Amino acid sequence: MNILILGGGGREHSLAWAVMQNPKCDKLIVAPGNAGIAMIADCAALDIENGGAVASFAVENNIEFVIIGPEAPLAAGVADRLRDAGLLVFGPSQAAAKLEASKAFTKEICDAAGAPTAAYGHFTDAASAKAYVHREGAPIVVKADGLAAGKGVIIAETVAEAEAAIDDMFGGAFGGAGAEVVIEEVMRGEEASFFVLCDGTDVLPIGTAQDHKRAGEGDTGPNTGGMGAYSPAPVLTDAIADKALSEIITPTMEEMTRRGTPYQGVLYAGLMIEDGQPRLVEYNVRFGDPECQALMMRLGAQAFDLMHACAEGRLAEARVNWADDHAMTVVMAAKGYPGSYEKGTLIGGLDALPEDSFQMMFHAGTTEQDGRITASGGRVLNATARGATLQEARDRAYAMIDQVDWPQGVCRRDIGWRTL
Ligand code: AMP
Ligand code: GLY
Repeated sequence: MNILILGGGGREHSLAWAVMQNPKCDKLIVAPGNAGIAMIADCAALDIENGGAVASFAVENNIEFVIIGPEAPLAAGVADRLRDAGLLVFGPSQAAAKLEASKAFTKEICDAAGAPTAAYGHFTDAASAKAYVHREGAPIVVKADGLAAGKGVIIAETVAEAEAAIDDMFGGAFGGAGAEVVIEEVMRGEEASFFVLCDGTDVLPIGTAQDHKRAGEGDTGPNTGGMGAYSPAPVLTDAIADKALSEIITPTMEEMTRRGTPYQGVLYAGLMIEDGQPRLVEYNVRFGDPECQALMMRLGAQAFDLMHACAEGRLAEARVNWADDHAMTVVMAAKGYPGSYEKGTLIGGLDALPEDSFQMMFHAGTTEQDGRITASGGRVLNATARGATLQEARDRAYAMIDQVDWPQGVCRRDIGWRTL
């Protein structure tokens, strides 16, 4: 089968790595890809948010199956354009991608489905948003409705802070994403991520994970896209996962189908768990980055069969062959990330790294020039490893990091600390 993956980060490198191991893969193209992906697949420069351009490219290259990595093309309706062109696609329609693209939409679906989540209000003007904050008091969470690259959520400790966030959002600090605002109750507990495949009818769990969003050790400092993750997440026990499925995810999927917009693809449920009860924090309509790297390390080649079965509506007959293992991914970032950082710095030592089913250095933001690998993003490398225990996975991941010669690279040394 000829396969196209859209995206160019560590998530897509790990997806490409898993797909390439499957004997059903004849040809793999990744657009745009990165220097690490280019070592295992063909890369193509393509505007992946332009559905027409992606569809033409796929048809010209005899692509039979398209896997969409990031949320932006999904929110832009690229999956719809590809299906219109007769292609098999892994990823939700634009209408179903609203589960990530609009927080107000997700809250409305939770109401209709009776799914436990934080109490909230939805506002289109600052005055009524502030009146709600005055009534509810602080702490309180203020969220831009739309996609804001993880930056549109403010946990306000005081009413004044919440008011400032409301003014920022309606003032255009998040562009169109802040034209509407959701204000919600602060939930307490421990966060974990639950990944399931949905084909519009059936739901298949494919793993749990926890990530570290803060830049600094001990989970301090500014928020980032994620500095590391591990799978499974011990806090998401089987009993809690069953509750999340029956009380949150399945009712959500049924509501989407009832509305005529069935969901097909991976659904990433961010959960807050307190006293054995999961509540929904948010949905994402894609794999997490870097959570995907840990999941792919555990699933390996079967990840392709599962995504393929999902796209063909065959999840009822699909099974995950679980190994009793653990995986961890540690992000190496350019010094200064998530603030300003230098680009183009040289990375050495990558050639000597072991690459097998227990360890892979996935590339997130790299470029190749004359055979030399340089950093071209904030999050640059993802040392990803698997082991019989989380400690073993951790030790393998950090052993890879210690072999990398990149003076401008930094990482957190404490990924997994909650569990270890
Ligand atoms: P979101 O983009 O909705 O996932 O929010 C980003 C992060 O903000 C989440 O991963 C949580 O850590 C935090 N967060 C969002 N909503 C709440 C809430 N209602 N209570 C507590 N923390 C929250
Ligand atoms: N690592 C968090 C995310 O992908 O949204």
